Amino acid sequence: MAKAKPLKTARAAAAKVISDVLRHHHSLNGILKVAQTALPDNETSFCQQLCYGVLRWQPQLQAIADQLLSKPLKTKDSDINALLLCGLYQLRAMRLPEHAALSETVNACAALGKPWAKGLVNASLRNYQRNQTEFDNNALVNESAQFAHPDWLIQQTKADWPTHWQTVLDANNQQPPMFLRVNQQHHSRDQYLNILEQENIPANAVEHVDEAILLESPCDVYQLPGFTDGHVSVQDAAAQRIAAILDIRPQQRILDACAAPGGKTCHILEIEPSNDVLALDIDPKRLTQITQNTDRLKLQVSLKAADAAETENWWDGQRFDRILIDAPCSGTGVIRRHPDIKALRRPTDIASLVEKQRQLLEKLWPLLNTDGLLIYTTCSIIKQENEQQIMDFLDRHPDAEECELTPEPATRRPAGYQRLPGENQFDGFFYACLRRR
Ligand SMILES: C[S@@+](CC[C@H](N)C(=O)[O-])C[C@H]1O[C@@H](n2cnc3c(N)ncnc32)[C@H](O)[C@@H]1O
Repeated sequence: MAKAKPLKTARAAAAKVISDVLRHHHSLNGILKVAQTALPDNETSFCQQLCYGVLRWQPQLQAIADQLLSKPLKTKDSDINALLLCGLYQLRAMRLPEHAALSETVNACAALGKPWAKGLVNASLRNYQRNQTEFDNNALVNESAQFAHPDWLIQQTKADWPTHWQTVLDANNQQPPMFLRVNQQHHSRDQYLNILEQENIPANAVEHVDEAILLESPCDVYQLPGFTDGHVSVQDAAAQRIAAILDIRPQQRILDACAAPGGKTCHILEIEPSNDVLALDIDPKRLTQITQNTDRLKLQVSLKAADAAETENWWDGQRFDRILIDAPCSGTGVIRRHPDIKALRRPTDIASLVEKQRQLLEKLWPLLNTDGLLIYTTCSIIKQENEQQIMDFLDRHPDAEECELTPEPATRRPAGYQRLPGENQFDGFFYACLRRR
């Protein structure tokens, strides 16, 4: 089959990316970057806004589109369905002149190779413009559309957080803020805040997270002073909290078991660059992202592509002082940063993730020195992956004790600490610190 030509307009490219996420379950980040390379520079950010916005609100936008279409579009025309969602998103949420939003969306049908769909997209969007309130109200009778989440995730969130579920769902629908991590090998946080002030980039220090800065509004990383020279990185403050929990000292042997793309590996090394840090990841392609980060930050790390749970394939028999398991998880704490999670995650994924996490804990625990610390973290808010996982582990392992953390990194749970998304503007995160007796 002939290879499809790259799409050169933002709306057509966004429609193709969105339909690939919804229909083929591709993850957004990878395919968006590829689609953006074919676009003129002035269209890339608009394409990104469309993809993130549409995937964030997809259940709501689809409930409106379903009313506008006399019958659902065929599966092979899921790109036209996605284009219609892009049109609705522009009319509802973007400050664009309505006529331009409408005519450019209609024109994108031709760019997608489907000029026959122009009339359909045009009539649907004009119908919506005429009767917006009615279509919006009809859509909102359905809970999935109202909260813009799949049903199973609404039910799961209600079951786990009966008093907070609505706040959690609302937080998942917000655009996330941008946090920075100052590389303390170059500057103190106060020094870097001064540099930002000189550059007219308004920002504030984050309480209880030593190197974290919150920007008043997100910006391109290349506008950040010293970014290419490794003076600063982008990382949510909830993720930055982990380095303090690890209580890193000189001359430690540290395992970062699920390390890619390397945000936490680099933070660990910025604190003590001479430490012996082994970073593993099961996905060899993702290891190159760690190398890009360590190169930019000029840090030294040992890297291995391996399943961390298959210790017989990679472990040299020397125990570790610290083990970080930043476990593969449902990602339900970071939906605001990865709105495609709403479409990609299935309820049946949870049991297999819980089993993978259990295996990682089981297999890595014996590799920890006496008095050493194992930190288990996830960016999930599902209790089975978090407090329940750790309670079960503590039941099975009398040589494990849980450490009390001060200041508390999040709300204390029967085991570990849970931050829900949006609290203090941070991502949702779970932390547990286990000491080997
Ligand atoms: C939450 S991400 C880690 C993020 C990373 N710690 C950071 O701060 O940038 C989880 C990672 O675990 C990796 N992974 C999943 N299962 C694994 C396994 N059995 N062994 C090693 N890595 C695994 C995934 O490829 C993914 O890169």
